[in-house]
Amino acid sequence: MGVIEIKGLTKKYGDLFALNNLNLNVQDGEVLGYLGPNGSGKTTTIRLMLGLIKPTSGSVTIFEKDALKQKEIIHKSIAYVPGEANLWPFLTGIETFKLLEQVYGSVDKKYRQDLIKRFELDPNKKVRAYSKGNKQKITLIAALASRAKLLILDEPTSGLDPLMEEVFKESILEAKNNGQTIFLSSHILGEVEALCNRIAVLRKGKLVEVGDLNDLKHLSAVTIEATFEKKPPSVEHIKGVSNIKIDKNNLKCQMTGPITDLLNVLTPAKPLTLLSREPSLEELFLSLYGESSSVTVND
Ligand SMILES: Nc1ncnc2c1ncn2[C@@H]1O[C@H](COP(=O)(O)OP(=O)(O)OP(=O)(O)O)[C@@H](O)[C@H]1O
Ligand SMILES: [Mg+2]
Repeated sequence: MGVIEIKGLTKKYGDLFALNNLNLNVQDGEVLGYLGPNGSGKTTTIRLMLGLIKPTSGSVTIFEKDALKQKEIIHKSIAYVPGEANLWPFLTGIETFKLLEQVYGSVDKKYRQDLIKRFELDPNKKVRAYSKGNKQKITLIAALASRAKLLILDEPTSGLDPLMEEVFKESILEAKNNGQTIFLSSHILGEVEALCNRIAVLRKGKLVEVGDLNDLKHLSAVTIEATFEKKPPSVEHIKGVSNIKIDKNNLKCQMTGPITDLLNVLTPAKPLTLLSREPSLEELFLSLYGESSSVTVND
């Protein structure tokens, strides 16, 4: 059964398509990484899933219920962490947890205590005195301790330092092992790689890729690097070649498809070194996020 089923989901603000005909399913127990550049529609998708805004067209079903019309029922099984925690400034951490406990209906208090320790949060301070990261920890801990069947997280680690990022990863893996389903919008590639079964990538409101991270790596271009005694040969005309960067006698480019044509140009120029490798995560995402190929020359 799909926990989240999104069909033809579209949200327009005036002439702008904040989200354009999104079709996406999230299965029970899956951790889906939801990625895209700023303004690509991630938060809009999440707000539509939570029934906070109305779609222009299309629908979201969560636990086989309509996200808009049956949101009170659905919300009993969801925990949500927004990118910017919007909390009550005059309550302490502990008081905030108690209030959020009422919102979630139930909480694993032992686990919450454990998380407070692991995230190194002092729960006795007033919320207005917490830093951005510490506010983020409160909403995260409350959501995780609710053990909700579905966690919806919108860039939940934007304020966390690298040590806390590790604690976050651990706790998400615990939720995953606990059978919870997780929708994780993120900019942090290491986080996505460590946690997600599948990723979906948005660009300008449209879904551009969805799949297993390793599958996406294979689809994407390989990087070729070569050094020459003199200026590298011109490769712009070769089919499948993109992102050409020339720096003195070094050539770097990306290649999709068969490499023969490129080798036929490189070999007569007598390369001193030649290296080919799979894209790094950063390169993969830049290629998915970016507009099109480009040529930059640096000499
Ligand atoms: N209430 C609104 N009124 C008008 N335009 C909006 C509104 N909310 C969002 N938008 C526009 O919709 C587009 C998608 O925004 P959204 O917040 O979903 O992006 P995002 O992927 O979450 O970005 P970020 O990574 O910066 O959080 C943007 O162009 C944004 O300006
Ligand atoms: Mg956002």
